[in-house]
Amino acid sequence: MQYRLNVNGADHNVEVDPDTPLLWVLRDAMNLKGTKYGCGSGLCGACTVHVDGAPVRACMTEISSLGTKKVTTIEGIGTTAVGKRVQEAWLKIDVMQCGYCQPGQIMEATALLAKTPKPSDAEITDAMGSHLCRCGTYTRIRAAIKLAAE
Ligand code: FES
Repeated sequence: MQYRLNVNGADHNVEVDPDTPLLWVLRDAMNLKGTKYGCGSGLCGACTVHVDGAPVRACMTEISSLGTKKVTTIEGIGTTAVGKRVQEAWLKIDVMQCGYCQPGQIMEATALLAKTPKPSDAEITDAMGSHLCRCGTYTRIRAAIKLAAE
């Protein structure tokens, strides 16, 4: 089936089955490889993107559920003021180790700060708690969020 999808501000036509997860539309049909596949079950957060500004797990989001909603990925988040600030904080704190989970972490952190510009520790824990990092960069992620919030 043919779908028209707005991703990072541009419209794209893709031909996929209705139950195709957004993750595979982004990675395979649109060659946007920044969004990562981790668990495929909504559990790790590696595939997090924004749909109309809210963080969603792309591995659990069927393309047929999107309609005219706007999708933003790690490739586009730096064009927003908050996303740019978060990415700069990530670099300044030197958060990444292997880096695999970091696009999803950045997308979640950006959504948090867009909604709650000065989050408390509890709010950071609540927002970021379901994102897994096998390298254990959690302390630096928290520091980067606090830096981006200043
Ligand atoms: Fe989607 Fe893990 S790959 S939550």
